[in-house]
Amino acid sequence: MAQFSGASDVPDMGRRQFMNLLTFGTITGVAAGALYPVVKYFIPPSSGGAGGGVTAKDALGNDVVVSEFLASHNPGDRTLAQGLKGDPTYIVVQEDKTLANYGINAVCTHLGCVVPWNAAEEKFICPCHGSQYNSEGKVVRGPAPLSLALAHATVTDDKVVFTPWTETDFRTEEDPWWA
Ligand code: FES
Repeated sequence: MAQFSGASDVPDMGRRQFMNLLTFGTITGVAAGALYPVVKYFIPPSSGGAGGGVTAKDALGNDVVVSEFLASHNPGDRTLAQGLKGDPTYIVVQEDKTLANYGINAVCTHLGCVVPWNAAEEKFICPCHGSQYNSEGKVVRGPAPLSLALAHATVTDDKVVFTPWTETDFRTEEDPWWA
């Protein structure tokens, strides 16, 4: 009998430890989830952003430096950066090798996939359900119902600053749906 319970203790212990681990994992996960907004709150919004603006960051989280950026990009390039509210936002290099004064939010207006730039087609083509947007982010094929959102892009101290676009959408001449 003793031997029997002894033997069954082993898997019991194992299970308990496993459950503890699960519980710990869950609590940690919940705590991290709860902390996230707090942490986000305490990370200072990027410097140099006046009027609700943010400094564009590259994939490594570094500020995009305009002079370096232009030296390594070609006319027509659309390059993802981190923009307003952390949204992936394209920086546009125009044909004259200057930066466009707008950034294009890469979040598909259908179901939110990040839409890649297709340089050969000169369109943004969503891999999820095939929506297409022209080179300025205007929707040209559904199922996406709306064009990609815009942000103002200005250069301050050799950095790109995105600020909210609340004016008429120059592509549709309509009020911005995102503002
Ligand atoms: Fe882009 Fe559906 S999320 S087409």
